[in-house]
Amino acid sequence: METLRQQLQKQEKLAALGILSAGIAHEIQNPLNFVINFSKVSDKLLNDLTEIVEDNEDKLPEDDREELQDIVDDLKENLSKIAEHGERAISIIRGILLVSRGKENEFLPTDVCKLVKEYVWLSYHAMRANQKDFNASIREDYENGLPMMMVIPQDLSRAVLNVMNNACYAVWHKTKNRQDYQPEIAVSVKKTGDDIAIAIADNGEGMNDETKQKLYDNFFTTKPIGLGTGLGMGITRDIIEHKHGGRIAFESTEGIGTTFTFIIPIKK
Ligand SMILES: Nc1ncnc2c1ncn2[C@@H]1O[C@H](COP(=O)(O)OP(=O)(O)OP(=O)(O)O)[C@@H](O)[C@H]1O
Ligand SMILES: [Mg+2]
Repeated sequence: METLRQQLQKQEKLAALGILSAGIAHEIQNPLNFVINFSKVSDKLLNDLTEIVEDNEDKLPEDDREELQDIVDDLKENLSKIAEHGERAISIIRGILLVSRGKENEFLPTDVCKLVKEYVWLSYHAMRANQKDFNASIREDYENGLPMMMVIPQDLSRAVLNVMNNACYAVWHKTKNRQDYQPEIAVSVKKTGDDIAIAIADNGEGMNDETKQKLYDNFFTTKPIGLGTGLGMGITRDIIEHKHGGRIAFESTEGIGTTFTFIIPIKK
């Protein structure tokens, strides 16, 4: 007979797997969208190109005209295959997200240190994959013996991922105009009274006053197109404050770095 403990362990493993696959699926969506969009844009460019060729038909020898048309047709077919298979991959990803998000908004007993660790490294590796010249030393400090905590793992992991992504970007961007600079991110999870404090501190570029003020505004971003949409912190605040009844504190100095801390009440 399965003991309660074994059942719990099994559930925990499934939950962890769900969180992990949701995180990966979410990360894959963006590059896939790029693939699909660029194939569509390229198809439009081919139409433009065909028009130009048609306008100048009389200047091209018959043979060249035919060959050119064949090449354009082949290119169009290839592009439509790229878009088609890209869409297929996207729909598979959406399926994974639906399954792993099945129990949305559900509070589950969670090992918060484990969750934070998992998403800190997921973010780090995603950043390494995207920016070849990204590197940073990650310091981790997880308090021993913390109790399992009732949180919405799906959401809390999203919040950790958002803030860690921002920290990675901030240190990476700072390396662009500094020499003798060692990018560093320090992560800690601690119990403080009846709360748990999750802190992510970076020695990146920091924020100016305007950014601090607009930080939580939807679509406020200082990043170039493709690297940020300006939604991360708004979503994060919703998760920490509304869903978990906690709060977010931050400290930031331009050129020095930024620390974000989630303070979440430990529920019985
Ligand atoms: N750790 C940080 N260091 C420096 N600036 C930060 C940091 N975290 C957030 N910011 C600033 O706050 C802005 C808003 O952050 P937010 O996470 O909401 O959006 P984003 O990271 O730009 O885009 P998205 O998260 O939607 O991909 C960022 O563009 C950046 O200017
Ligand atoms: Mg962000």
